[in-house]
Amino acid sequence: SRRPPLALPKDIFGSRQNSRGYDLADLLILDEIEVARAPFAAPHQWTFGAGDQTIINPSDFSDTVGRVGFGEVSHIDPCVSRALGFQKTWESRSSYERAGILNAIAESYEANAPEFYALCAREAGKSLADAVGEVREAVDFLRYYAAEAMAEPPRPARGVIVCISPWNFPLAIFTGQIAAALVTGNAVIAKPAEQTNLIASRAVQLMHEAGIPIDVLQLLLGAGETVGAGLVADARINGVCFTGSTGVAKSIAVQLAKTAAPDTLLIAETGGLNAMLVDSTALPEQAVRDIVASAFQSAGQRCSALRLLYVQEDVADKVMEMLKGAMETLSVGNSWALQTDVGPVIDAEARDGITNYCDTQAKTGRVVARLHAPQNGNYVSPTIVRVDGIDDLEREIFGPVLHVATFKAENIDAIIDDINARGYGLTFALHTRIDDRVQQVVDRLHVGNFYVNRNQIGAVVGSQPFGGEGLSGTGPKAGGPLYLPRFGHASKLAQGD
Ligand code: NAD
Ligand code: ALA
Repeated sequence: SRRPPLALPKDIFGSRQNSRGYDLADLLILDEIEVARAPFAAPHQWTFGAGDQTIINPSDFSDTVGRVGFGEVSHIDPCVSRALGFQKTWESRSSYERAGILNAIAESYEANAPEFYALCAREAGKSLADAVGEVREAVDFLRYYAAEAMAEPPRPARGVIVCISPWNFPLAIFTGQIAAALVTGNAVIAKPAEQTNLIASRAVQLMHEAGIPIDVLQLLLGAGETVGAGLVADARINGVCFTGSTGVAKSIAVQLAKTAAPDTLLIAETGGLNAMLVDSTALPEQAVRDIVASAFQSAGQRCSALRLLYVQEDVADKVMEMLKGAMETLSVGNSWALQTDVGPVIDAEARDGITNYCDTQAKTGRVVARLHAPQNGNYVSPTIVRVDGIDDLEREIFGPVLHVATFKAENIDAIIDDINARGYGLTFALHTRIDDRVQQVVDRLHVGNFYVNRNQIGAVVGSQPFGGEGLSGTGPKAGGPLYLPRFGHASKLAQGD
């Protein structure tokens, strides 16, 4: 069943035909995609069951993207048994061989990039720019971990790793976790987020085609609370690599403490209450550009996104006036339209939760700016909320909502102490032209990624390893040199191999 095309990005490559011969119009009218439930079958053997999920485009409710069959708790036991059965064979292959397959997957992703762009836009509501970045980051993870694996001394694998990933980086984080676990000789059971099963399924199909045996990488689709929790509770697994909310990470840690061996791996990369501090020496134009990108790009749906802006009192009126002006120029709308700056949020639950939060803030008179949002998708109005400090933020609001507070220069240490005390430690940005101030903040603040005079999103694999501390994650940082060694066997690591 073919559907009418969405707005066509005719000028992306100069014409509808790109250099690889893809017809972009065709990508936008892909037949509905079907992905099904049998967890360890090759894609051509997938079957459907009662729990089918229909995927609707978050930015266009008239677009049915596809259909997905969920796995069930009863699939977990055979899935883990199968992984255990094939893990040693996989481990016996050389790092070079496994890295070679990762590089082949990278090539395959690049060759199929336009299809991923369309899927990222239609299933995850990503803007075209974000979709391009998504594929780039996935390819970077594959090539970086392949290179690292070849450079590292070989060490024993851990065994079976469960990879649980979020919807906001449905290809990049999904791929990064799997690539790291596989290249170090582990078998993987991947459980992607419920919202982005099509992207995950297509990625796994390409990984199998590139040479990863289907028994060594199994895809198990399903609900987090049942299938995800059930996988984590299987005492035979050797590790969990998780990216998602802090609450779910804690529940996984509790479960592992109950049922898993003490040396079981847990890598958890979680949420943040990320701040930016703009002092009176900062260049206001540059700061405003970076505030807008950090808070509103990707509709605020990045763990790294700016949640709380501190502006020095002396320049606050000027910066806020410029910020409101810049915000008014943002275009909120269909993810695939080239003029769009802020696309939809992922689903109706997210839209309603964020909108209700902003409505509540508006009732207390704290909303200082709010844009208009269209109605025919999961759109949320980009909003600015005035607060006194980080303690006014109840939780991570995972959308285009920016909180703003003012500060006096003499209170900077106290602000940093407050941020540390909240317990999250993911990203932070500082806009200043005072060198000593950079050192003052660096010495005091506990965060994973610290940015000076730039935005705080879009860490680059290999050159900006990404990850937080405290409530924001366990480390090691993804896309950095300490990541792969954690997937090796713990006893060998203890010997400093
Ligand atoms: P989420 O925690 O709701 O879900 C993440 C994954 O966990 C999904 O696959 C889900 O199905 C699964 N899951 C849910 N309940 C589970 C359970 N009880 N046991 C096992 N698995 C379970 O998060 P989300 O909404 O998909 O993603 C957004 C969150 O992820 C935000 O908090 C964001 O900050 C965070 N995030 C962090 C990073 C990072 O690198 N630090 C990157 C991206 C996203
Ligand atoms: N790595 C992603 C970023 O830096 C989450 O935005």
